[in-house]
Amino acid sequence: MISPDSLPPLIGQSPEFLTLLDRVSQVAPVDRPLLVIGERGTGKELIGARLHFLSSRWASEYVKINCAALSEDLLESELFGHEAGAFTGARGRHAGRFERAEGGTIFLDEIANASLRVQEKILRVVEYGEFERIGGEKTLHTDVRVVGATNADLPALARAGKFRADLLDRLAFEVITLPPLRARWEDIPILAQHFAQNMAKEQGQERFAGFGMNAMRTLMEYNWPGNVRELKNATERAVTRALAQGNQGVVDTIVLDPFAQPWNKVNQETASAKIKTETPQPLPTSPSAPFAEQVNALERSLIVTALQNHGWHQGRAARALNLSYDQLRHYRGKHGVKRPKVETHEI
Ligand SMILES: Nc1ncnc2c1ncn2[C@@H]1O[C@H](COP(=O)(O)OP(=O)(O)OP(=O)(O)O)[C@@H](O)[C@H]1O
Ligand SMILES: [Mg+2]
Repeated sequence: MISPDSLPPLIGQSPEFLTLLDRVSQVAPVDRPLLVIGERGTGKELIGARLHFLSSRWASEYVKINCAALSEDLLESELFGHEAGAFTGARGRHAGRFERAEGGTIFLDEIANASLRVQEKILRVVEYGEFERIGGEKTLHTDVRVVGATNADLPALARAGKFRADLLDRLAFEVITLPPLRARWEDIPILAQHFAQNMAKEQGQERFAGFGMNAMRTLMEYNWPGNVRELKNATERAVTRALAQGNQGVVDTIVLDPFAQPWNKVNQETASAKIKTETPQPLPTSPSAPFAEQVNALERSLIVTALQNHGWHQGRAARALNLSYDQLRHYRGKHGVKRPKVETHEI
């Protein structure tokens, strides 16, 4: 059983993160289903656990299951259980997660991956607290709070008929959206420091020697598509390498791509050359066009060129233009600049 003491601490001080924690505290005691939405690695599981331990159900079970990790049949039997002989290999009776979560909370991770059939059964539990074990006749009753988590666009899936709209309506009683790390950059140094300290301790050090300027700049300029998980990995890797290299364990370099090798450079250059030739440079409009139109075209062209020249690395492109990272993202959004798809042969 998970206890509140065994949970990793939730670190962050940015306004976005503090607002999130406030919302979690507000909705946790309200005994209704919930959805936790966020990009990969943003901390959905940590938030799920906090929702449970801040609710009146805290002393009962907190059960987690990943709906993407099991086949449809296995997921169904894991959630609802089965009777002996329900299918080949089903020797004894098996209590499902809904049964085991009685009185507590169930965290349905990657809920968008549950099949429509399983979704229908989940809806019945949410609505009436009722279900049957597979191969069983008897209707069982359970009192479980359902928390669904996903990175997928559930309303879009519902419109496409891939997610049950009625289940979505019920689960979306409250929706908690986790901000990506790039939208709360103030948290990057605190999180990095926290992960680095833990890693240094794990490696037998009394304390962490700190980040050099170069490393801190990399941490702040990268856009962290894998969010906190990626930051944790990169920091832990950097601490390990720094300790192995001496220099009293001061972290000078952050390796963001552990696959990167000097001899990969040739491939990367070929790839970026390909992008350049395949993407026609958007040209500013003619000098006779209205002023605003010309400015727009020029802005867009500057952003596209800088991104292309820097391998679509937003931090470096922003620096080349003397813009802040957020300014670059603003202009990118304003002009809808998307990275072109290109086939590369990565090693
Ligand atoms: N605010 C935070 N403070 C400390 N650690 C965090 C925080 N947010 C996330 N983490 C850590 O980052 C990692 C990823 O978090 P978690 O597994 O909760 O993300 P997730 O959103 O469920 O990701 P996925 O969608 O990939 O399953 C974990 O190691 C978690 O402990
Ligand atoms: Mg998760």
